[in-house]
Amino acid sequence: MGRKLSYQIMILLLIVNSSLQVKYEFVLDNEQVLTECQDKPPGALDYDSLFDFSELTFTMGGDGVTLTGNATTVWDIKPTDRIQGTANILYFDRGTWQSTILNMIAQNFCATMYDERQFWYKIWARHIINADEVKDNCLKVPGTKLIMEPFVIKAEFGFDAPLRQGRHKIVFGFRAFDEHNVERKDNICFEITGEFYKI
Ligand SMILES: *[C@@H]1O[C@H](CO)[C@@H](O)[C@H](O)[C@H]1NC(C)=O
Repeated sequence: MGRKLSYQIMILLLIVNSSLQVKYEFVLDNEQVLTECQDKPPGALDYDSLFDFSELTFTMGGDGVTLTGNATTVWDIKPTDRIQGTANILYFDRGTWQSTILNMIAQNFCATMYDERQFWYKIWARHIINADEVKDNCLKVPGTKLIMEPFVIKAEFGFDAPLRQGRHKIVFGFRAFDEHNVERKDNICFEITGEFYKI
């Protein structure tokens, strides 16, 4: 009986959980796509210290911004490092950016870069065509070329917490730690701005 009850509770929780989740679509609102962080942490470098964008183009179209081409990693860290990745969502309210409770952190970004439940996978990593070849390099081996299929930068997300519709930005941060867990001098920070729509 005990087992049956726990199954029932589990199923109920699953249903409750999925009904609480609200689905949103995030669409970029400008062709600039990646921008410098407005509140830079000490030592933060821009997106062009993470990737070489010379083989990459962004074009604005009717349904958003399309990305075409390849990105080559240039971040000067070591293959044995651990990368910590963060994504913080802020919304624009009466002229200022306000923080939200939607802040994600991956202590070992490389272990979850290709995890389909992750934010960065949905918005970007799933479009990397040569993933099998470059998976192990993650973002840790400078010169790794990520070949991407052309895609419109937008993604659907389910959030348990309600989100306002309208203008938001996602602030991405990457930090690297050596094998003694000492942080490397250079960290990366950049933002993307767009709109969340309820679907
Ligand atoms: C992307 O890389 C592939 C393989 O090296 C190459 O064939 C292709 O021309 C590159 N794309 C662009 C836009 O440079």
